[in-house]
Amino acid sequence: MAVPVPGGRATWGSKLGFILAAAGSAIGLGNIWRFPYVTYENGGGVFVLLYLIAIVCLGLPVMLAELTIGRHTARNPVGAFRMIAPNWRFVGYLGVLTGVAILSYYGVVAGWTIGYVVKSAAGSLDPDDFGTFIADPALQVGYLLAFLTATVVVVAFGVKNGIERMAQILMPLLLLLMLGLVIRGLTLPTAAEGLRFYLYPDFGAVTVKTVIFAVGQAFFSLSLGMGAMITYGSYINKKDNLATSALAVVSFDTCIALLAGFLIFPVIGASITKGGPTLVFVTMIEQFNLMAGGRWVALLFFVLLAIAALTSTVSLLEVATSYMVDELGMKRLKAVLSVGAVTILLGIPSALSLGAADGLTDLANGKGFLNIMDFLFGNVSLAFGALLTCIFLVYRWGISNAAAEVQSAYPGFARFVPLWRILLGVIAPAAIAAMLVYIIATGEGLG
Ligand code: PHE
Repeated sequence: MAVPVPGGRATWGSKLGFILAAAGSAIGLGNIWRFPYVTYENGGGVFVLLYLIAIVCLGLPVMLAELTIGRHTARNPVGAFRMIAPNWRFVGYLGVLTGVAILSYYGVVAGWTIGYVVKSAAGSLDPDDFGTFIADPALQVGYLLAFLTATVVVVAFGVKNGIERMAQILMPLLLLLMLGLVIRGLTLPTAAEGLRFYLYPDFGAVTVKTVIFAVGQAFFSLSLGMGAMITYGSYINKKDNLATSALAVVSFDTCIALLAGFLIFPVIGASITKGGPTLVFVTMIEQFNLMAGGRWVALLFFVLLAIAALTSTVSLLEVATSYMVDELGMKRLKAVLSVGAVTILLGIPSALSLGAADGLTDLANGKGFLNIMDFLFGNVSLAFGALLTCIFLVYRWGISNAAAEVQSAYPGFARFVPLWRILLGVIAPAAIAAMLVYIIATGEGLG
């Protein structure tokens, strides 16, 4: 039985507070670490174009769908689906599970950012270090633990005093760092070469894979498909305009991803032949080491990554926390500590899977535990969740009921409802289903 949600459920202090927190969830390693290297591997400018199309046609409508479900029900994902259609609560459970699973390995990569902040501060940045660093069991588990502890502390303070306050401080800082670093990058001699690759669309590079990866990147980057935006939406004030909130979050996230390209590509312009997941931790460092004052530029860069990661891990933890608080009637502190403990245990195999423990490094087709987790949860499960959310909203809850929730504060939304219905009911499910078939058939995730 669902425990009734007490009347005093938390809400965001302001609309801007919500936008910063939700943009904080969306803006993460996905924007600054993954977007540039996936762009790099998938044809540069043409990938950027496909990504933008996916954001507008799929990301924006699904973002609005999740926020609407959350605000309407004022519950965590399990409670939200249960309240509208009890049989659909499994989508909520899938989201809670996916959040914990993603957090467990995302925390490992997030931990690297602290590791590299430390290395930059100590002046010991060495591009050849990366392999030994990720294979060091004590460092990997230690940084994971440190990062998840910081996440637990923020979430323990609650929605307004923890998540929102952190976002109000860190998001402006993130923007400032980003702009400063972009300017530094654009003034490098390597800038033109890098930008040409980033922005020039090579239409010959378009394949099924490029399109699928653009769609997958759009969902991951916007934190969709696992109830994070349902949960954040559940704290939105009834009088706020959901459509403009969704638009603001999506635009903010997209701008930061594009800016990350303007930061990374000018810097790596000269060594454009090297890409992949090591782009940020190896190629960037080679370049930082060539720059005057590069060590301090590197420090700011890794602080930027750490901030982006923290505002995302917080949202991953909040999903399961809100479930335990709402549905199981747990105190927030107890809920946060229990989910945090489970996440750390689940994260250890990922932390050890990059060379520290032989048995975890190569489990299937050369993929280790972390990569498999990313494939299952960061790709397959998010896609399933997003697909089910679209179908649920249009064919179970009903577009007019959902639209009524948006229109309560924004009557003018009526004219967008037919478009929203087509995008959510036809276009997005078709694109996501195609993506699911592709990633399951080929076993290719973004990771
Ligand atoms: N959107 C985050 C990023 O780009 C990752 C994330 C996915 C966060 C799903 C929450 C939920 O890094």
